[in-house]
Amino acid sequence: MNAEVRIITTQVGIVGGGPAGLMLSHLLSRAGIENIVIETRDHETIRNTHRAGILEAGTVRMLSETGVDGRVLTEGHRHDGVDLRFNGTSHRLDFQDLVGESVWLYGQTEIFVDLAAARKRDGGDVRFSVTDTEVADLETDVPKIRFTDANGQRFEIRPDIVAGTDGSKGICKHAIPKEKRTDNFIAYPFAWFGILTEAPASAPELIYAQSEHGFALISQRNEHLQRMYFQCDPEENPDDWSDDQIWAELQRRVDGPDGLTLKRGPITEKMVLPFRSYVCEPMRHGNMFLAGDAGHTVPPTGAKGLNLAFADVQVLFDAIEAHYATGSDELLDGYSEKVLDRVWKAQNFSYWITTMLHSRQDQSTFERKRIQGELNNIVSSRFGQQYFAEAYTGWPSA
Ligand code: PHB
Repeated sequence: MNAEVRIITTQVGIVGGGPAGLMLSHLLSRAGIENIVIETRDHETIRNTHRAGILEAGTVRMLSETGVDGRVLTEGHRHDGVDLRFNGTSHRLDFQDLVGESVWLYGQTEIFVDLAAARKRDGGDVRFSVTDTEVADLETDVPKIRFTDANGQRFEIRPDIVAGTDGSKGICKHAIPKEKRTDNFIAYPFAWFGILTEAPASAPELIYAQSEHGFALISQRNEHLQRMYFQCDPEENPDDWSDDQIWAELQRRVDGPDGLTLKRGPITEKMVLPFRSYVCEPMRHGNMFLAGDAGHTVPPTGAKGLNLAFADVQVLFDAIEAHYATGSDELLDGYSEKVLDRVWKAQNFSYWITTMLHSRQDQSTFERKRIQGELNNIVSSRFGQQYFAEAYTGWPSA
């Protein structure tokens, strides 16, 4: 261990090298703004972090228009709609017809791989496997990020601006003093049991199924690999379930008069995903700006997590670019308010479809029938369908 602390000065110090941190670094470097990314996890761990599989059109444009890689366009699949299924009947929402947009099916984990490769290709300074990270002096003109690198060398970064992109378990939001921060949080009484299966797709598009046995989502990855989920107890242990039991549970949640039958194959991965909704307010403290899961978490139902992170990063990048190009901090000063507007819309959408599609043990018949009314409101009206479609494909940015 080298006891001497090495000082690095840069323009933007990015704490967290997941998709949000790497995307910000990529945009900044393209604009000639110096930056360093540090990350506690190693490349493999982040690569294996579970994420949803749906990208909003705006997210795809951010990747394809900034030269990250063509993979999202060649290996991803455009989906122009989804099926909402209840009482055993599917109702297709046609996104192109309703709002003129599509979404892309592409494992969000692959985006990390693509971004990490692009940063490497472009000579970005990204340091994985660091330890003992601290942020300090955030309210001064010389904020600090301290860390020990993988070789045991201690560093202090002195940037103008700190970006906190260190995910839901990160340190950055805790650096906002308690009296200056509101933690808005709710837990849910259920989780998702998720599987990956080596099987062909069961349907052309994703199916969001509400049933008396609980929610199920029939998603996909590619021609040979499918992703499916069913609502379960948060304490469920995936190893207690045999493949036959899993298939029976998924199948009974999509059963209906149309005879929809899931195509089965070997189950190669099983996991339980927790559900929570969280928003940190404000998303700024002094010269530190939070983006992505560091500032907010959504349940996976609407697949909004990574999309929301990219929306934050775009707003933060525009503000930092303006700061260096014009000397004006107007956009930086408006950052928190601007991103929170979209964050709360996404929180509402994720909460709304989660509560509408999942069942609760203590549900009264009134509540069950009210939800049928709500689902019928969506599918039987073009306005209802458009409301869903606009949120699902992502609101246009202001
Ligand atoms: C997934 O494929 O992992 C996925 C897709 C859509 C969602 C959530 C997860 O809403």
